Amino acid sequence: MLIKPDGVKRGLVGEIIRRLEMKGFRIVRLKMLQLTRECAEKLYDVHKGKSFYEELVKFMTSGPVVALLIEGEEAIDVVRTMIGPTDGRKAPPGTIRGDFSTSILENIVHAADSEERAQYEASIVFNPDCSLNENPW
Ligand code: CMP
Repeated sequence: MLIKPDGVKRGLVGEIIRRLEMKGFRIVRLKMLQLTRECAEKLYDVHKGKSFYEELVKFMTSGPVVALLIEGEEAIDVVRTMIGPTDGRKAPPGTIRGDFSTSILENIVHAADSEERAQYEASIVFNPDCSLNENPW
């Protein structure tokens, strides 16, 4: 899962992690980073060619994001239910996007939609080469 630049800027990191932990999930890895353009493109490879692709990559590289690796019962499905549908305007109250977003692009969080994708995405976001200005410590 990723907390996107809008979620970080708006100070929602704690609230999102709180919801995941209250639900019973374990946060097994956590990292704040600013994505390189190349890695944002890899992350969203399936959307290449779509009308919103360029603005999506621009948005995802516009500021720091928080990457989370989450473990728990049916984590993929349950987390996706907790975040709600893509469009914040249509996402129901009680979901992360429904509570905090009125945008389809700036929708606070991203969550992988399969275990394979989760592994693929984790290999990108936890790779030091994907982070601009990687902290030296
Ligand atoms: P996410 O779940 O990260 O997956 C792809 C992202 O592309 C999505 O959330 C939105 O941030 C963005 N997105 C999807 N559809 C649109 C759209 N029609 N217009 C703008 N952004 C979109």
